[in-house]
Amino acid sequence: MRVIIMGATSGIGQELARMYHKSGHAVGIAGRRLENLKQLSLELSACPYAQIDITCDDAPKKLQSLIERLGGMDLYLHVSGIGKQNRTLECDIELATVNTNVLGFTRMLNHAYHYFAGQRGGHIAVVSSIAGTKGIGVAPSYSATKRFNNTYIEALEQLARINGINIAFTDIRPGFVDTDMLSRDFHYPMMMSVDKVASSIVKGIQKRKRVLTIDWRFRLLVFFWRLLPSSIWVRLRVA
Ligand SMILES: NC(=O)c1ccc[n+]([C@@H]2O[C@H](COP(=O)([O-])OP(=O)(O)OC[C@H]3O[C@@H](n4cnc5c(N)ncnc54)[C@H](OP(=O)(O)O)[C@@H]3O)[C@@H](O)[C@H]2O)c1
Repeated sequence: MRVIIMGATSGIGQELARMYHKSGHAVGIAGRRLENLKQLSLELSACPYAQIDITCDDAPKKLQSLIERLGGMDLYLHVSGIGKQNRTLECDIELATVNTNVLGFTRMLNHAYHYFAGQRGGHIAVVSSIAGTKGIGVAPSYSATKRFNNTYIEALEQLARINGINIAFTDIRPGFVDTDMLSRDFHYPMMMSVDKVASSIVKGIQKRKRVLTIDWRFRLLVFFWRLLPSSIWVRLRVA
């Protein structure tokens, strides 16, 4: 299988690139940090890479060039995303998060959808988050943009069916993962290791799961969150 990983320069995406490469798949990697891409490429038998900023207009063109250098694409794995706690509601944090997690995300999924439409099939997998299941007070734009991700791929799945295009979709929703994204200033309960999460993602994608919440403890948590009416939820101190 030929896999493109957008957001492979660190954390979950980097670990996924290693795992797919180890199990014999052809991997193409992308992200903004060029040094990280070069190093990872060397580690992964000189796999093709591209410096791509998904908030820029030229990102789809660069993705297409990476796909061609890989010899085609069967799985587009969108891992890129940013997120910060924003208790003081700084506007620049909110807008940067929307720019990456909504505009950048939409730009890249649009390209992947059209690419697979031309190929008569493929698989789009997105790392969203459990944060998308509720509006989280300390991370407003993060939780809202992750909800956007959830809804957008549901819409694309319906659109693909309407248009008779055979694209599989996987919405990956991890709980807390021990990566640079999480500030070391806070304590996060039930923290998971990157390799554990990446391994669950690979298995879930292989099984073509539609929604994959990682792990079982967070599945349980989300189940109970969802039962709560909004009037109670907004009174909780989720921090
Ligand atoms: N860590 C968690 O607890 C957790 C939980 C649930 C979901 N997630 C989601 O998992 C995904 C990966 O996060 P992580 O935890 O592995 O953190 P990370 O190590 O910070 O990885 C984020 C990745 O996104 C890429 N990225 C950010 N902005 C980008 C841009 N403008 N263009 C292209 N790529 C961009 C980064 O690459 P460059 O900086 O090199 O561009 C990096 O490869 C994110 O979508 C995050 O929301 C994380």
